[in-house]
Parts: sequence; C-alpha cells; structure tokens
Amino acid sequence: MSLRNFILGLSASFGLAWLLVVIVPFIKMRQLAPIPLSKELDGVSGVFYPKRGGRIINGAAVYGENGCYLCHTQLVRPTYAGNDLYRADWGGLAKDPERGDTRRETNAYDFEGEGFAQIGTTRMGPDLSNLTRRLEAAVAAKGSGSAEAMLYAHLYNPRRTPELRKSACPSYRYLFTRHEIKGQPSSDALPFGGGATTELVPSAEAKALVSYLLAMKKDQPAPAALNFAPPDDKAASR
Ligand code: HEC
Repeated sequence: MSLRNFILGLSASFGLAWLLVVIVPFIKMRQLAPIPLSKELDGVSGVFYPKRGGRIINGAAVYGENGCYLCHTQLVRPTYAGNDLYRADWGGLAKDPERGDTRRETNAYDFEGEGFAQIGTTRMGPDLSNLTRRLEAAVAAKGSGSAEAMLYAHLYNPRRTPELRKSACPSYRYLFTRHEIKGQPSSDALPFGGGATTELVPSAEAKALVSYLLAMKKDQPAPAALNFAPPDDKAASR
C-alpha cells in the first residue's frame, strides 16, 4: 500500500464517521423548523412546534454541573433502536386519567431551548423525560403534596423514606442553605428540615434545577411524521 492510499484510507475511515455521526446530525438538528401536521394522519391541521416553560437554560446548566446525566437518561429510544415504551411511565403515562395512553418516544424538539441535549450516559436511575408526569400522578393518587416539594425533598435526601433507603441517587444537600430565622420566616423555606429557630432554603441553583425538572413532561402528542411507533389503528390504515 502506498503512503498516498494509506492517508486517503485513513481520512476516509475517520472522515466518513465524523461526517455521519457529528456533522449530518448537527446540520439536521441545529435549526428545528415547525413540522406541518397532516389532517389525515394527525387528525388536526396546523404546525407542531412545542414550547417549553421553566428555567430551561439555567436549570440544564445545574443539571450538567452536578452530573445528573451520568446516571439519568432523557431519551426514550425510538422503537426501531430498542423499545423503551414498555417501561413504566418513562415515555409518558400508560393510563393518564384524561388523555389515556400518552407514551411516545423522544424527538429532537424535546430539547428545544437547551444548548446541549442531555441524553445521558448510563441508566443507573430512571429516565427523567417524564419525571414530573410520574410525580404528578403520585401526588394525585395520594391526594396531598406537590411535585415541587417531592423534588426538593429528593434532592436534599434521596434516602428519606424506608422504601428508598437504598437509593443510589446522591444527596445534593449543598444546594440548600440553613440559616437562622430572623423576623418572618422566608417565603421559600422548605416544609421540612427546619428547626425551632432555623430554616432550610433552596439556593438559586436548586430553584433553577427544580424548575427545569418540573418541565419534564415530554409526552405531548408528536406528529405522525416524527412518531416512530404510531398507535396501531393509524399504522393499520397506512
Ligand atoms: C450515581 C448515580 C446518580 C446520579 C449522579 C444522580 N442520580 Fe438521581 N437517581 C439515581 C438512582 C439509582 C435513582 C433511583 C432510586 C430513587 O428513586 O431514589 C434515582 C432517582 C432520581 C429521582 C426520582 C425519579 C423517579 O422517577 O421517582 C430523581 C428526581 C432524580 N434521581 C434526580 C436526580 C438529579 C436532579 C440529579 C443531579 C442533580 C441526579 N438524580 C443524579 C441515581 C443517580
């Protein structure tokens, strides 16, 4: 093999992989255009361009800084790449009281507004794409509490209840500060962890992170053009 062929072969094997794995997806996902909905397949007309609420940019930064992505994914895989939809409440709720089965796969629009898609590296903990849907369902079943309070309690002490005493989720206690109550208690003091004269308040980072986590409700209906696992009746009519 001549040196010239060697260099060409080397550039082709690395260059092609770089082109297909990095450059093509980057160009495709850099600017997400609204997707027109099809009256026939989606049942509605108009465009699909979901908006997300909450402190997405700051919250995602705290999420990244604290390495949440090391153990949690935000990726309900497309069914052709390995089904995730059977996992309880990862892709949405199997039995939402109002909307029925809301489960669907992740699409690029789910990361709208974030500089980096935190798809995660391992799955030590559950996927967080629909975390707040799960928490709200638990709150509704219990009839008390709020998703926000559950998140603060979890971040402060993931091993707070006997059934979670072996939880491998680290405690992020340093995102909270304890201080003495002077005059009126703070309006953002947490309902737990306070003493007779002290109170526990979330830091700015904890608030941004919780606001970001509260937006984890990625189960709004995706247009048929994006949906890799359409409901059976639609698949049959194709
Ligand atoms: C060392 C791995 C690890 C890291 C890092 C980690 N977690 Fe976890 N997490 C877990 C495991 C394991 C569970 C499941 C046990 C449980 O529910 O506590 C979990 C559970 C959770 C839950 C409850 C999920 C549910 O569906 O009820 C939330 C919320 C959560 N983690 C948020 C976070 C956030 C936010 C961060 C970053 C600040 C983080 N985790 C970092 C391992 C991790």
